[in-house]
Amino acid sequence: MWLRVLGSAAGGGSPQWNCACPVCAAIRAGTRPGRPRTQSSVAVSADYRRWFLINASPDVRTQIEAFPGLHPHVDRTTPLEAVLLTDAELDHTLGLLLLREAQALRLYATPAVHKTLCDGSGILRTLERYCPVEWRAVVPGAEVPLADGLSCRAFDVPTTKRARFGPGVDHGRVVGYRLINERGGGTLVYLPGVQALTPALRAEIEGCDCLLIDGTCWRDDELVRLGLAGKTSREMGHLPIDGPDGSLAQLPSLGVARTIFVHMNNTNPILLEDAPERRILEDSGMEVAMDGLEVKV
Ligand code: MLT
Ligand code: MN
Ligand code: ZN
Repeated sequence: MWLRVLGSAAGGGSPQWNCACPVCAAIRAGTRPGRPRTQSSVAVSADYRRWFLINASPDVRTQIEAFPGLHPHVDRTTPLEAVLLTDAELDHTLGLLLLREAQALRLYATPAVHKTLCDGSGILRTLERYCPVEWRAVVPGAEVPLADGLSCRAFDVPTTKRARFGPGVDHGRVVGYRLINERGGGTLVYLPGVQALTPALRAEIEGCDCLLIDGTCWRDDELVRLGLAGKTSREMGHLPIDGPDGSLAQLPSLGVARTIFVHMNNTNPILLEDAPERRILEDSGMEVAMDGLEVKV
């Protein structure tokens, strides 16, 4: 199975249009090594021919253009089979509206996410005016065949982060996906938003061939220190990388062959290739995703 990172930054991208924090400023000016990144999304495929998008970012149009594997073949048929959602955040769902030219769209989302997209942000109600949407309910724990031996199983990711809109339902508001290649035997876990590595989540991750995990903030108080927000990373639903209970300290015991951080916020120093934080992470054998990165398991 193949996974292609379409966008590796959190909401806002890197650099973010209205931000002159040290990381954004350095990337914008090119004064330190670091690439611009688009917003959080990946594509997965069993055969490199039919692709499933996990999340649809506001950058989806440029992301598709940047990846020949997703270009249309003939007339208006494209290799895009369906879109799977991990949550209803705008950085993961605004792109649905940009896919409205599709003849039809198949959408995998939990009932909680579906309800938020209908009655909360309204994105789905609007999209349905443009193209037929076939919603397939995602049930955490149930294995869903996608195509050619590729299947996925969602798992619930508990969070105390309050929903900005939509129902206050907890169950299924955020999920991660375990992707299984029945033919090749490989497994891959995609978890772009996680607040805490609970025992149940650790069990989902354990022993997978490749984990792509929430790398929003390096420090828990990253945005507070910069004077950019009043909330910690954890309060925003994102486990920080650093610190005694951070992901860097917890992940090595899970026996994952390859760990790659995704969904980096524009303030995260690991976006700069010469940052000491980046060195610490790479010395632990972990990686920082960039747009266009491909993983084969
Ligand atoms: C998040 O991941 O916390 C949100 O996507 C932030 C946002 O809405 O930009
Ligand atoms: Mn996000
Ligand atoms: Zn910034």
